Amino acid sequence: MSLRNVKGTRDLLPPETAIWQAVEDVVRRVFALYGYHEIRTPLLEDTELFVRGVGEGTDIVGKEMYTFEDRKGRSLTLRPENTAAVARAYLQHRLQDQPPPVKLFYVGPQFRYERPQRGRYRQFHQIGAELIGDEGPGSDAELLLMLVRFLRELEFESLTVRLNTVGDAASRSRFAAALREFLLPQRDALGEDSRRRLDSNPLRILDTKVAAERELLVGAPRLADFLGEDDRRHFSRLLELLDRWRVPYEVDDGLVRGLDYYTRTVFEIASQDLGAQDAILGGGRYDGLTRDLGGPEVPGIGFAIGQDRLVEVLPESFRQRCAGAPPVVVVPVGEHHQETCLALGERLRDAGVVALVELSGRSVKAALKAADRQQARFVVLLGDDEAAQSTVTVRDFARGEQAPVAQDRLAGWLRERLDRVEGDPSSTVAAGR
Ligand code: HAM
Repeated sequence: MSLRNVKGTRDLLPPETAIWQAVEDVVRRVFALYGYHEIRTPLLEDTELFVRGVGEGTDIVGKEMYTFEDRKGRSLTLRPENTAAVARAYLQHRLQDQPPPVKLFYVGPQFRYERPQRGRYRQFHQIGAELIGDEGPGSDAELLLMLVRFLRELEFESLTVRLNTVGDAASRSRFAAALREFLLPQRDALGEDSRRRLDSNPLRILDTKVAAERELLVGAPRLADFLGEDDRRHFSRLLELLDRWRVPYEVDDGLVRGLDYYTRTVFEIASQDLGAQDAILGGGRYDGLTRDLGGPEVPGIGFAIGQDRLVEVLPESFRQRCAGAPPVVVVPVGEHHQETCLALGERLRDAGVVALVELSGRSVKAALKAADRQQARFVVLLGDDEAAQSTVTVRDFARGEQAPVAQDRLAGWLRERLDRVEGDPSSTVAAGR
């Protein structure tokens, strides 16, 4: 049996790759408008980075990392997320010496050993942005505005930001202690995952989807009651700004997120179209992360979008726009015209026309059939008669009409009609004659 890709990974093939690229073009254009620059960090990091950054008690570090020893016995991990790595690079290259905030974005693969299903892969891809060096709610608002602008450019219409505040590290740990105390007497009624979380990360139990566990949570202490005055002020200022800019959001005080570094603002956007794996993106503030990594305390906020999930639920209107320009196929009628056809192909490309030259020597009939499958709009035929007169025959493939065109006018002739075709699909060779 021939070899196949590794479970949980995927080959992305054309035409799907054109859609991925179109999404990335929007990322680069929109994020640049807010002053974000690209960072590319390694796929491999010391395991310790994620243990300290993401947190020992998280699902990611506890059971989802691709961790192995290299030939010298060092423990390395394929990055399961990129915020910790960006913070590491920030400290390592002393980006705190640049005028704050430092705004960075990334696009690339991440690795988590999860059970694969629709929208959940072991190698998946994230589009992320991190704003490091400002602690004010204005930065939270601006980051969300960028996110909403990005999603609108992709023609999403009805997505709502779920938003919460988890407080600073001190409020969080006070709340975690109270929640643990509340749940401890019910320990045996909890499932295995939640029992483990009770010791390591009780906040995550609030996320549970198990109905029986949700019932146990009725009457549990509420995070909102443990927030400090500064936490509250930060959050209410953020909500004010989002109201002013009409960012669609709803506050969900059950939202806690699965990574340990979060402080204050956390958010997610989900899509109904994804079913159980519904979060297309998540993010939040991480004011203690650089300190956890051994550096000075620098506040930060960011998000990561699951690109696989995003592409899966992209509006059809945006997908339609991703189709590339239809090719022009140049067909020699007789193999001795191949060289002239190659030259014509180059002239078309000089004029920015996508050109495919038929070089296989197959019959004209077979070549026309292939051109149809390649979605060609125009086919250029060059046989003895055309060669004698330095012309070609151009066929509007969609309609089966054809016209003679001088070889040295061909590129301009096609360019003009292709531009018109892009604007007006009813335009044809006949109409252009
Ligand atoms: P996260 O919530 O772990 O956050 O992941 C962000 C997004 O990545 C998810 O909402 C989801 O769309 C996608 N994702 C995660 N796991 C998978 C998977 N196995 N298959 C497909 N997609 C997946 C973070 O990673 C944080 N670093 C986000 C962040 C940036 N917070 C602050 N800055």
